[in-house]
Amino acid sequence: MNSVIDQKNVSTTRRWAEEQKEVWNGQMGETWVTESSFIDGMLEPFLQVVIEKATEENPREVLDVGCGNGTTTFAIARALPQATVTGIDLSQAMINSARMRGLEHDARTSLLAADAETHYFENKKFDYFTSRFGCMFFADPVAAFSNFRKMAADQSQLSFLVWRTPQENTFMTTGQRVAASRLQPMPPRDPRTPGPFAFGDTKYVSATLEKSGWSNVVIEPLDVTCQFDASDLDGFVRKLSPIGVDTRELPEGLAEEIYGATVVELRNFEGSDGQIRFNAAVQIISATADNKSI
Ligand SMILES: C[S@@+](CC[C@H](N)C(=O)[O-])C[C@H]1O[C@@H](n2cnc3c(N)ncnc32)[C@H](O)[C@@H]1O
Repeated sequence: MNSVIDQKNVSTTRRWAEEQKEVWNGQMGETWVTESSFIDGMLEPFLQVVIEKATEENPREVLDVGCGNGTTTFAIARALPQATVTGIDLSQAMINSARMRGLEHDARTSLLAADAETHYFENKKFDYFTSRFGCMFFADPVAAFSNFRKMAADQSQLSFLVWRTPQENTFMTTGQRVAASRLQPMPPRDPRTPGPFAFGDTKYVSATLEKSGWSNVVIEPLDVTCQFDASDLDGFVRKLSPIGVDTRELPEGLAEEIYGATVVELRNFEGSDGQIRFNAAVQIISATADNKSI
């Protein structure tokens, strides 16, 4: 019986890993490259959080997990002149874009296109692991966090920013709700399926880190106002607000209807100054690699 369950889990994990590779090396990765200025503007408050956390620890060897276009990688390198910062990301397109943007940066940064869940840096021990929304897409989170643990120097710190639940992030999930109201009911989705909200459940996150050998796990909620210009709303909805279905599989006109209705709902977030503002409900996961505890 157990082996049947194990085989099912192995095949689900493989499928999830393949899907994520395709997603971030396909249209989504391209969109994150072309929309990098917009995304960096919207996520700017989190860049400050990432830098503050890194500065408090003052590390020497940093791994930036799911570094995307390298914004956090380069910012940490600038803030910590004594540190070497390595960015790893599944998306070749985003790593290429990071390399282009980082041409002016010095030898203290390096970038690698690889799966952070499995890639082992042979000749490095990291004393700090950081991530701005780059760690919720692992097919097997325990494998990923165990891999980080193996590459961690004693007393290394981990500080990862992740979204809380979809229910707490109503702005980000409006597209999905609008779509759900117009589509046939879909089977309920496992909340731990790789995706932005996979690490919303604090008990699950703590258990995942503890199983992976991390100690002193602390999960701190944080609410931040993000903003962007209302003239970008239409583009945001079409390119960056997932509606939970493949639009190519929808009857003609339905995707347009869903996007249009989502834009109408999100106009409620526009202030008199023409800015869209929304609450981003996130959490900071912190943990220590303590060799005494293993
Ligand atoms: C939401 S984006 C965040 C990007 C970047 N951290 C930022 O804040 O701009 C998620 C990133 O995680 C990366 N990613 C997803 N799964 C990954 C994996 N298994 N290994 C490495 N990177 C991964 C994606 O390619 C993508 O760049």
